[in-house]
Amino acid sequence: MAIDSSEFRRVLGHFPTGVTVVTAPTEQGPVGMAIGSFASVSLDPPLVMFCPGKESATWAKMSGTDRFCVNVLGDDQADVCGVFASKADDKFAGIEWSTRVTGSPVISGSIAWIDCELHAVHDGGDHDIVVGLVKGLSTENDNGPLLFFRGGYGRFEQI
Ligand SMILES: Cc1cc2nc3c(=O)[nH]c(=O)nc-3n(C[C@H](O)[C@H](O)[C@H](O)COP(=O)(O)O)c2cc1C
Repeated sequence: MAIDSSEFRRVLGHFPTGVTVVTAPTEQGPVGMAIGSFASVSLDPPLVMFCPGKESATWAKMSGTDRFCVNVLGDDQADVCGVFASKADDKFAGIEWSTRVTGSPVISGSIAWIDCELHAVHDGGDHDIVVGLVKGLSTENDNGPLLFFRGGYGRFEQI
C-alpha cells in the first residue's frame, strides 16, 4: 500500500507530543530547533533520542558538535517554539539562556532540561535518529508542558 505523505502527517498528528527545543553550542554561536520527536530510550546507560530532518540547517550546524541539550517547553512558551521552528538566522536574538553541564544552552523558563553527549547517529529515512548519553538533567519549575496535537498547541489537563 502506497502511503500518501499528507495522510501520513494527518494520522501521525493524532499522536500528541510534548515540545522541546534541542540546542547546541557551535563556533558560530548557539543553535537550536523545535523538536517533537524526543523520547527517552534507556535507563542504564541513560540514553535519550530525537529525530532531526536531514535537510535541517540547524542539524547541519549541530553535526560539528558532540553535545546537545533538550529543553522541555512549558505551556507559556509557544512563542519560543515558534522562534525555534523558524528558519531565522539568529534564533537566540531575543532569548535568555544559560549553561549547565555540557555548555549547551538551557533556555530560561523551560520546565526541564536534559544535557547530553552525542552517543550515536542512526539512519532514519529522511531524518536521522540521534541518541544522546545524558550527562546531567533537572527540572526548573512546576509549569505545565506545551503540547502539540493535530497541528495545534495545547495544555495538559489532569483527569
Ligand atoms: C511542535 C514542533 C515539533 C517539531 N519537531 C520536529 C522534529 O522532531 N524533527 C525535525 O526535524 N523538525 C521538527 N520540527 C520542525 C523544525 O523545528 C524546523 O523545521 C527547523 O527548526 C527549521 O529550521 P532549520 O532548517 O534552520 O533547522 C518541529 C516543529 C514544531 C513546531
